[in-house]
Amino acid sequence: MTGSYVAAIDQGTTSSRCIVFDRNGTVVAVDRREHRQIFPRPGWVEHDAAEIWAKVRAVVAGALAAAGLRADELSALGITNQRETTVLWDRSTGKPVHNAVVWQDTRTAALCRDLGGADGQDRFREATGLPLASYFSGPKVAWLLEHVPGLRRRAENGEIAFGTVDSWLIWNLTGGTDGGVHVTDVTNAGRTLLMDLDTLQWDPSILAEMGIPEAVLPEIRSSAEVYGTAVGPLAGVPVAAALGDQQAAVFGQTCYGVGEAKNTYGTGSFLLLNTGDRPVPSKNGLLTTVGYQLGGEAPVYCLEGSIAITGALVQWFRDQLGLIRSADEIEPLAASVRDNGGAYVVPAFSGLYAPYWRSDARGVITGLTRYVTKAHLARAVLEATSWQTREVVDAMFQDSGVPITSLKVDGGMTANGLLMQHQADVLGVPVIRPVVSETTCLGAAYAAGLATGVWGGLDELRAHWRQDAEWTPRMGVEEREREYGRWRRAVERSFGWLE
Ligand code: G3P
Repeated sequence: MTGSYVAAIDQGTTSSRCIVFDRNGTVVAVDRREHRQIFPRPGWVEHDAAEIWAKVRAVVAGALAAAGLRADELSALGITNQRETTVLWDRSTGKPVHNAVVWQDTRTAALCRDLGGADGQDRFREATGLPLASYFSGPKVAWLLEHVPGLRRRAENGEIAFGTVDSWLIWNLTGGTDGGVHVTDVTNAGRTLLMDLDTLQWDPSILAEMGIPEAVLPEIRSSAEVYGTAVGPLAGVPVAAALGDQQAAVFGQTCYGVGEAKNTYGTGSFLLLNTGDRPVPSKNGLLTTVGYQLGGEAPVYCLEGSIAITGALVQWFRDQLGLIRSADEIEPLAASVRDNGGAYVVPAFSGLYAPYWRSDARGVITGLTRYVTKAHLARAVLEATSWQTREVVDAMFQDSGVPITSLKVDGGMTANGLLMQHQADVLGVPVIRPVVSETTCLGAAYAAGLATGVWGGLDELRAHWRQDAEWTPRMGVEEREREYGRWRRAVERSFGWLE
């Protein structure tokens, strides 16, 4: 061990951040930078992986400077990342061969339909825990191999590497073309549609079905172990954890027991329930996914309800419609009216994910009259997040039979008190926010610190968790169910727009 601080990089959909934590799990310094969102066609979303790597280097330097620390004062570095986003790069030049295809991108919808054939969406569900949907990485790799001229041949020759963002960062952090390690962890690999949930290895039959050569694949490792040592500004720091951001939030919220759940409100929202040491299949549109695996220990599985668009709807309201100038203006605007004025916004911008998995869905606004103002729409925008969460919570109950009694929340949108109150109202249970709401970074730091001996075990981490705020339900049952019925009618209107 070189020092008593742990750093984590959270490479998210809209921004990258680096946070330095001390031994108590307290935030010492943060730096954050946004990167470009590239929309080449309706439904397509890309990132420039080289830009992401540059932004990550910048936030690491920024956080270290803000903390007044040198690299040798860090014990470990953990990585957490937007999941499913797919990068292919040339092993000898280190350059991406195409923009990264982002998880929200729907270009593989037809490919997924073809892959499903007569078996449909659930063709690989038993092996992978996932429906065949444009969300996941495997079909994105297949699409790139098919559409980038000459790429398949180069991939078969071993010249090309595939990785989700964790792999891309770890390869670069540990030396890139000069000996970088090409690995991923079980939580990220489990989102490709290519990993078998029981063996935690790539599934050769699915690889063959999708035409993906093994030569492009990273090695699958646990979520907490030393993968390699960083070079450059972090020289000597062990890179010791990788988790998809939602699984990292489970870890940071210390949901270590069966039945513990959290919801993270970021670009999208992702509710994960710890189901323990065996994968629980879903019959109600949820995903079965690896929560985390600590070194050689048995993996812990989760049921997940993934919602593609929540915070991104506020961004759209700001950037595409221009109805507010900054995201935090939405709360006072929404609070200036008593209700939504009858309007509902269903943000099916990437189709609808859980529990529907409808790639033919597109966004709709229903209930418009001349009475509706931008303030009512602001309210409807926020309410879209809590109603989508309610649908996922209902599906969790149907799958597990266990009613939730409270919901631990985190992520940027939890700063919005109006939204959190509405969330408690429509779920009918208290909503609880911890002091450290940066739980994705915290989870990656915890995993890296466990792997390098900074912390002794899960109980020590659990003892760090502190409550910051709690919202209790105020809405009557009758009003809640009436409003929920209207929301569901609006959702039905979003289906069937993709020919
Ligand atoms: O599965 C997508 C998810 O990992 C993205 O999270 O919050 O970075 O948009 P976020």
